[in-house]
Amino acid sequence: MADANGPQPGQVNALDRTWFVGCGNMAGAMVEGWRAAGLDLSTAVAIRPSGRPVEGLRVVTSFADAGPPPKLVILGFKPQQLDQIAPKLAPWVTSRTTVVSILAGVEAASIRARFPNARAVLRAAPNLPVSVRRGVIALYSEDSHDQVLEPLSNAFSALGLVLWTNGEANLAAIGSVAGAGPAYVARFIAALAKAGVKRGLPDDLARTIALETVLGTGWMGATTRESTDEIVGRVASPNGTTEAGLAVLDPELDALVARTIEAASRRGAELAAQARGTNLAEETPLA
Ligand SMILES: NC(=O)c1ccc[n+]([C@@H]2O[C@H](COP(=O)([O-])OP(=O)(O)OC[C@H]3O[C@@H](n4cnc5c(N)ncnc54)[C@H](OP(=O)(O)O)[C@@H]3O)[C@@H](O)[C@H]2O)c1
Repeated sequence: MADANGPQPGQVNALDRTWFVGCGNMAGAMVEGWRAAGLDLSTAVAIRPSGRPVEGLRVVTSFADAGPPPKLVILGFKPQQLDQIAPKLAPWVTSRTTVVSILAGVEAASIRARFPNARAVLRAAPNLPVSVRRGVIALYSEDSHDQVLEPLSNAFSALGLVLWTNGEANLAAIGSVAGAGPAYVARFIAALAKAGVKRGLPDDLARTIALETVLGTGWMGATTRESTDEIVGRVASPNGTTEAGLAVLDPELDALVARTIEAASRRGAELAAQARGTNLAEETPLA
């Protein structure tokens, strides 16, 4: 099932002995994408308190049951749980373990402080479409272990568009648009569908039309490389129906989306401060 972006013969298995610590929506989406790309997850394990199954992975409920120490740890729980989980996980993280954090907002230094022995710490800001290998994944690391980070970067490439960032502000900026973006786009699809229902369309049909319209527009933009203004120009003729609609949408949309993303970014900054603050308050190592 391997494809051009999947593993090639003789290639290092970047996911060998991976522990997914927490495997809910986001880490689960990554697993789905990697499985679809044919990456080898045979030695990977998910550790989650519920023990709920994850297709393609062995699932356990405690670190002690996870088997040999991990080469790679993917932190897939909520940022607020870092200080509950890190002290129990830290003893398993040695100089041979790379830690990938997908925790929104939490800075690399805060992760490093919890896992001082880790070989490398990588921050990833993925979004949900990684499950269908059309994700956007921003990456950031303060470590320069090409041997581990390069294969990992290749593994992320199997999930979508990978963007290495040179600072955490850039990672946060990409995350603020792409990370939460699928929720905003899904709301827009729902709003289009509701408007269709108001115009008399059956619910199911309205939803399908709205979804296909967003998919088709995104697909067209991505393949033709037309700008969004060009697309608008090709839909809206002067003094026509679309222009009448845009006269209502335009004055509010940019400001509304900007306010939406600002609110999410503020919350990200709060979570980062929380992780930093706890860390600063601690005088002794956390492990
Ligand atoms: N969702 C997104 O679109 C998105 C995008 C970018 C980044 N993120 C980041 O991804 C992370 C996870 O978010 P999510 O949306 O996937 O949340 P989620 O669906 O609630 O998953 C959280 C996971 O953490 C596990 N967990 C809870 N307590 C634990 C413990 N003590 N030890 C180990 N695992 C534990 C849960 O296990 P059980 O299932 O067994 O309860 C669950 O698998 C967050 O840090 C978030 O910032 C999410």
